[in-house]
Amino acid sequence: MTELDLQSRWSEAFRSAVVSGLSAPRKRLPSCWLYDARGCDLFNAITRLDDYYPTRAETEILLRHASDIAEFCGEGAALLEYGAGAGVKTELLIDAMNAPRLYVPIDIASDELLTTTERMGRRFSSLQISPVIADFTGAFDLPALPPGPRVAFFPGSTIGNLDRREAIAFLTRMRAHVAGGRAIIGVDLKKDRNILLSAYDDSEGVTAAFNLNLLARINRELDGGFPLDRFAHKARWNEAESAVEMHLVSLDAREIPAAGRDFEFRAGESIHTESSRKYDLNSFAALAEAAGWRLARCWRNAQFAVLGLEANLASPLEAWS
Ligand code: TRP
Repeated sequence: MTELDLQSRWSEAFRSAVVSGLSAPRKRLPSCWLYDARGCDLFNAITRLDDYYPTRAETEILLRHASDIAEFCGEGAALLEYGAGAGVKTELLIDAMNAPRLYVPIDIASDELLTTTERMGRRFSSLQISPVIADFTGAFDLPALPPGPRVAFFPGSTIGNLDRREAIAFLTRMRAHVAGGRAIIGVDLKKDRNILLSAYDDSEGVTAAFNLNLLARINRELDGGFPLDRFAHKARWNEAESAVEMHLVSLDAREIPAAGRDFEFRAGESIHTESSRKYDLNSFAALAEAAGWRLARCWRNAQFAVLGLEANLASPLEAWS
């Protein structure tokens, strides 16, 4: 497939996600579309904010337990990373690993993926790197993997951005990818609601800019007419889902053109762009088990947990794979 084909496929996928999401009775836009070039820059700025604790908390755990976590990965492993992004935490892990054989960063943000691939290639000159441009919440092809252990790395609490059904489907697919191997997953823990809300509605307004950039992207790429100053970013805690929800709220009643259609908004109506579920260790272990994994290790601090999972050989799927 040529570069152009690939591009038109993505823009077609974006168009259909926007049309179906804005036509739904409860409007929504899938969060993977937040990460265009400007979205990636804004998200990287979020990870450096005082209010956004998850990156700091997870990095601290990875630094403190690097050799233990690396040992869990095994010698000569292939590392598959889902939603690699800027790959900063991955450097810590690869640096500590014993003779890693291959690094497969997987991300929907193709430009950032290539930048990361180049940087990692310079940093680890003997490591083979095979990037994959894909939305990891769906099925995609992996490159050929060398013999030896396989480890999936899924940091950033991105698992929290999937609902239960999506998370189980994803974890099950990830288990097939590593073929009976292991996984290291970053999970944000349930905590005081005000700390959570500040992390997703920071005082510097970077998260608001990040969320609103999605409307700017629709304006730019799908000929949209969203008045950006008449939409507000809102983070709210949903106790039943144990999740922080991100919304874009229309301040007025109006009709807005996008992707060749018109979408009706009521005053105060919101578009749900993202949920970030917060787990405790028991609820996460139950989720992992439902996808054929067993919680084997836990490295944590007060805010965040990095969990080591092992494919559960007792699970029915494994019996015939
Ligand atoms: N995986 C990140 C998280 O849930 C993504 C994220 C951080 C995010 N801030 C956001 C997504 C704001 C949408 C809006 O913590």
